[in-house]
Amino acid sequence: MSCKIVVGAQWGDEGKGKIIDILSRDADIIARYQGGNNAGHTVVIGDEEFILHLIPSGILRKGKLCIIGNGVVIDPEALLSEINTLEKKGIKIDARLMISESAHVILPYHKVIDKRRGAKIGTTGRGIGPCYIDKMARCGIRMIDLMNPESLRKKIFANLEGSQEFNAEQIYKEYLEYGKKIKKYLANVSQVLNKAIAKKKNILFEGAQGALLDIDHGTYPYVTSSSATAGGASTGTGVGPTRIDEVIGVVKAYTTRVGEGPFPTEFEKGLMEKIRTKGKEFGATTGRPRRCGWFDAVIVKHSVAVNGLDEIVITKLDVLDEMDKIKICTGYKYQGKLYKDFPADIEVLEKCEPVYESCNGWMKDTTLVTKYKDLPENAKKYLGRLSKILNVKIGMVSVGSKREQAFKA
Ligand code: GDP
Ligand code: IMO
Ligand code: MG
Repeated sequence: MSCKIVVGAQWGDEGKGKIIDILSRDADIIARYQGGNNAGHTVVIGDEEFILHLIPSGILRKGKLCIIGNGVVIDPEALLSEINTLEKKGIKIDARLMISESAHVILPYHKVIDKRRGAKIGTTGRGIGPCYIDKMARCGIRMIDLMNPESLRKKIFANLEGSQEFNAEQIYKEYLEYGKKIKKYLANVSQVLNKAIAKKKNILFEGAQGALLDIDHGTYPYVTSSSATAGGASTGTGVGPTRIDEVIGVVKAYTTRVGEGPFPTEFEKGLMEKIRTKGKEFGATTGRPRRCGWFDAVIVKHSVAVNGLDEIVITKLDVLDEMDKIKICTGYKYQGKLYKDFPADIEVLEKCEPVYESCNGWMKDTTLVTKYKDLPENAKKYLGRLSKILNVKIGMVSVGSKREQAFKA
C-alpha cells in the first residue's frame, strides 16, 4: 500500500490532471486537499477532453473513490454543475464521491468581493481568497452548516448584517437547497482515509495550483490563498504526515504562470507566441492566455525543498521539439549579488536578471516516443541536466496530452 502526494512544482497548470489520471490506475482513493474551482485539471482520454475543477481527476477511472477534503473550499453551484456535466458524459458519481463535512463553502458575496479586489493579483474570480479569509476569521460556513437550517440562517445573517448589496434570506434559501442535494456526499473524510490506510489501500492526494502559488512558500502576495505544497495534504484531509510515503512533483519542461506577479524567465513577444501556440497555453478555468518562459531551476529547486519531493515528472517536453536552443535559469543577478536560492524579497524576483545556461535543442518530434531510451540524445541531455541541477530523480516524462503519451524515465 502507499500514500502518494502529487503536487504542482511551479505556478500551476503543470499537467497534474494528466499525471493523476495515469497514477490513479493503481490507486483506490484520490483526494483533493486544498483550493477550489480555481483549479482546472485536464485529462484527455481518447479523443475526449475532461476538465476537472473540484472533483478529483480519479473520477474518470471506474470504481475509484474520490474525496474532497476539509482543506478545499467548495462553491456548491459549481460542484453540482460539475457533477451534472460528468454524469451527462456517462461518468457515474454517486457513491464514488465523498465530501468533507468541514470543508468551507463559497458564498455569492465571496465571488463578488473576489472579482472586485482580485484584479491586482489576477485571481480567477471564483471567491477562493474571500472564502479562506472567512475561514481564518472564524466566520466561515462549512458543508455541515448546510444541513442545519437554523444555524445556517443565523450564520448567513450575521455575515451579511447591514449589507445593502446582498439578500441574506435569498442566499439562505438557495444554499439550503444546495445542502439537500449535497447531503448524500458528506462524510468524515479523515476517518474514511485513516481507515483505508489501516486496510492498506492506495491513496493519491491530488494537489491543486503549484508550490509557487502556495500562501506560505509562493511568490507572496501573488499567490492563491491555500497550502498548495505537500504539507497541505495532511491539514487538508486529516491524514498525519507519518502516513505519507512519497511526494511527486509535476514539472513543466518550461515555465508558465497565469495572472499577475513576478516571472524572471518570461519570454519576450516572439518566443511567447511560439510556445503559447505550440503548448496551447490558455487557462483551463478562465481561458486566459498563460505567460510563458524558460525553465526556472531556482523556483523548482525551492519547490523540491518545500515539498520534500522524492521525484519529479517532466511534462510537455514535446512543446520544446522545435527549439534549436533551450535555456535553463540557474540563478538571479540583482544589485551585484548572485542568488542561487529562492529569495523571499519579491523585489529580487521582479527586478533581477536571470542567469542562464544554454542547451542544444533536439529539433525532432517526440510525441510518438514511448520509451525513454528512444528520446533524441539532446532531449535526454536536457532532462539529465535538469535532474542534476535540481538534485532530484525524474520518474516519468510526458510528451503529449494523451494518457499513452508518457513513459518511465
Ligand atoms: P493542471 O492544472 O496541472 O492539471 O494542468 P492543466 O490541465 O491546467 O494544463 C495542462 C495542459 O497541458 C492541458 O491542456 C493538458 O492536456 C496538456 N498536457 C499535459 N501533459 C502534456 C504533455 O506532455 N504535452 C503536451 N503537449 N500537452 C500536455
Ligand atoms: P491548477 O490546479 C494556475 C492563480 C490565478 C492567480 C492566483 C490567485 O489548474 O494548476 P485565486 O483565484 O486562486 O485566488 O488566484 O493564482 N491560479 C492558478 N494558476 N493554475 C491554477 O490551478 C490556479 N489557481 C489559481 O491565476 O494568479
Ligand atoms: Mg490547470
